[in-house]
Amino acid sequence: MTAPGTHPSASFPASRPRRLRRTSALRELVAETRLGVNDVIAPLFVREGITEPQPIRSLPGVVQHTRSSLRREVRELAGLGIKSVILFGIPAQKDDVGSSAWDPNGIVQVALADLREDHGDDMVLMADCCLDEYTSHGHCGVVRPDGRVDNDATLELYARAAVAQAEAGAHVVAPSGMMDGQVGAIRSALDGAGHSEVSVLAYSAKYASALYGPFRDAVDVRIAGGGDRKGYQQDWRNAREALVEVAADLAQGADMVMVKPAVTYLDVIAAVRAACNVPVAAYHVSGEYSMIKAAAANGWIDGDAVAVEQLTAVKRAGADLILTYFARDLAERWS
Ligand code: PBG
Repeated sequence: MTAPGTHPSASFPASRPRRLRRTSALRELVAETRLGVNDVIAPLFVREGITEPQPIRSLPGVVQHTRSSLRREVRELAGLGIKSVILFGIPAQKDDVGSSAWDPNGIVQVALADLREDHGDDMVLMADCCLDEYTSHGHCGVVRPDGRVDNDATLELYARAAVAQAEAGAHVVAPSGMMDGQVGAIRSALDGAGHSEVSVLAYSAKYASALYGPFRDAVDVRIAGGGDRKGYQQDWRNAREALVEVAADLAQGADMVMVKPAVTYLDVIAAVRAACNVPVAAYHVSGEYSMIKAAAANGWIDGDAVAVEQLTAVKRAGADLILTYFARDLAERWS
């Protein structure tokens, strides 16, 4: 029996977890999860036909780069120790099928070539492989007359875009359109074009999230007719389905898989981590970033602290890599 007023742990010496929280050095020593410059990938936007970088209203601190400001930014990121960037392009002209996505002179292709020239193999160059930034209707694929996105007609265009990105110098192509069979179509096109060394990071479990709003400002996308992507991106009520997507992508040759968004899907990240042995990435998306920035600008939260807490949680859940707009801020803080 415990004497009145005495906490049971006082008579149970083995159970005193606070001992290891006593000093900052002790806490560092026993931390289970570490977040550092090698874990983050910086998403960057490059826009054709502009002469000055353009701020993005809903993504404070992020800009649409010119070709030359992109080169400068990536040199600075490399100096801060960042090992990888992922590029998104905004073409001067959009069309029905998004043809600048595979044009060798398309903005992402020329930007990849610039960066490959600057960094060789020292920086891992990734390219988002999709059509929505390039189509006039804003969908991620070919739209049929009935308004639906045609899965198989889209695969052929993703394959062309992936080959163009590889030829321009991408080390990794990252299909994000959630078409069935996209990884297989891209893998065989890359192999057929002599790019068997280029890897595929599959956006495997990508949800039809309301958190992509600021990104669509960043790439000037408005989905035609006020539509959405629920016909191809995952329903956020479903977690098991993510494992079906991951298994399909791995069977088709994905080298790495991704869950997106991140903080609202920690359960999915953990399940994907447990279900496979390839690197798992998570995308801390534009809305996740902007919410932190907006609350911090109002003085309601400490934005830097919340960013580290959220991104550490994403790693703790099982992600090996995190795509985050905080990459530069964090690298500056860590350097
Ligand atoms: C599609 C794509 C999107 C994002 C990355 N790739 C937008 C979408 O699916 O609507 C969103 C990223 C973010 O919100 O930060 N190419």
